[in-house]
Amino acid sequence: MAPSATSKQVGTATLTFGDKSADLPVLGGTLGTDCVDVRKLQSQLGIFTFDPSYGATASCESAITYIDGDEGILLYRGYPIEQLAEKSTFLEVAYLLLNGELPNQAQYKEFTTHVTMHTMLHEQIRRFWDGFRRDAHPMAMLCSVVGAMSAFYPDSIDIHDPRQREISAFRMIAKIPTITAWAHKYNAGQPFMYPRNDLSYAENFLYMFHAVPPQEYKPNPILTRAMDRILILHADHEQNASTSTVRLAGSTDANPFACIAAGIASLWGPAHGGANEAVLKMLEEIGSVKNIPAFIEQVKDKNSNVKLMGFGHRVYKNYDPRAKIMQKTCYEVLGELGIKDEPMLDLAMELEKIALNDEYFVSRKLYPNVDFYSGIILKAMGFPTKMFTPIFALARTVGWISQWKEMIEDPSNRINRPRQIYTGAPQRDYVSVDQRG
Ligand code: ACO
Repeated sequence: MAPSATSKQVGTATLTFGDKSADLPVLGGTLGTDCVDVRKLQSQLGIFTFDPSYGATASCESAITYIDGDEGILLYRGYPIEQLAEKSTFLEVAYLLLNGELPNQAQYKEFTTHVTMHTMLHEQIRRFWDGFRRDAHPMAMLCSVVGAMSAFYPDSIDIHDPRQREISAFRMIAKIPTITAWAHKYNAGQPFMYPRNDLSYAENFLYMFHAVPPQEYKPNPILTRAMDRILILHADHEQNASTSTVRLAGSTDANPFACIAAGIASLWGPAHGGANEAVLKMLEEIGSVKNIPAFIEQVKDKNSNVKLMGFGHRVYKNYDPRAKIMQKTCYEVLGELGIKDEPMLDLAMELEKIALNDEYFVSRKLYPNVDFYSGIILKAMGFPTKMFTPIFALARTVGWISQWKEMIEDPSNRINRPRQIYTGAPQRDYVSVDQRG
């Protein structure tokens, strides 16, 4: 395992309230900001902490992913995202996230074989699709089908059995590309393509997505590499909203399929994974470079509720390192496809240039995030806009499972249960309806 261990006490913070004070341990990890351990605050001072959107709260100890938002650094198990995106493969990264170390050749082969052997769905799951409207959003299909997997694979839902946990992880990583591709096929009215075990993970997904029975399908190595890179870049991102949702659901001992379905639901929102779809819609609405200044004015107007989608991040106060790699990949993909002039890319580049020099964005440290360029690449690769967020979910599944596994294996895990400041009516007596004014 990677050198992770647990946090250590690095100091003490004293908090005084009324005539009492409490000495609270300050904990430090391997990297990053130290945290005050407030677990004994209530017993010592009789008060709770208040942090509604968790902006100042660490919810767990984790040895998986590290982000330095000021410097724009992202590490998976200590390895910089740039190196993994350049040199690794998605399944190698999946192994790394799940197990803490990069695999040796034998481990990599074994892991790949396990994932490959689980790519088919229970045939009965096929019939689920008949119940959806043809125009159902693929995220709705993903969420339901993944949740339903607990009914089809009851032999891997005992979360206290490490072997069952392992099998459910393989099942989820292996089957999510099949589910995602089939959600598209259902929308498109095309036959479902069964997985092919002679193809790599990314190739197989592209095959199930794009291939049709009457035509031979030839994988394109540049597009396969781009797909693999997109999956690596989205594989994990520490305690974001969807991952925290997975952990919260998992803290109740819910089965892993149910927890991942909860994560998919959380990812769907435009403030999170839905942003890649929203970026493209935004670019289409802006339409032309000449409309950018008016659009920027709208974004800056507090009453408009318009945001520059693909910009800003709770943690990054610098360029999201994934956005830089996405931008580079974007050029590679457009080059390979012979697209010399992509108006959406020109628009995005101009928008980025203007925003990065505008006082509104500069003073708030708003930079492009991973979603700013991903939609343009995915569009060029032939994915319809509503498939962008499902592809994000496909990639993030391994991160969710790794975080869920880490939590289940942590002996200090107990049900997550935040507190509140109650602002409702004080206690009062019930009045029967005939006596109410
Ligand atoms: N456009 C315009 N203004 C913005 C944007 C944006 N994209 N993002 C933040 N701001 C402004 C806020 O209005 C706020 O201004 P104020 O201080 O004058 O009130 C200030 O910047 C700080 O922003 P917060 O909303 O407090 O930042 P928060 O951490 O809560 O939100 C979020 C982060 C949700 C990502 C936000 O930046 C956003 O909505 N961005 C657009 C959606 C997006 O791209 N989401 C993808 C995130 S990455 C991911 O999940 C893969």
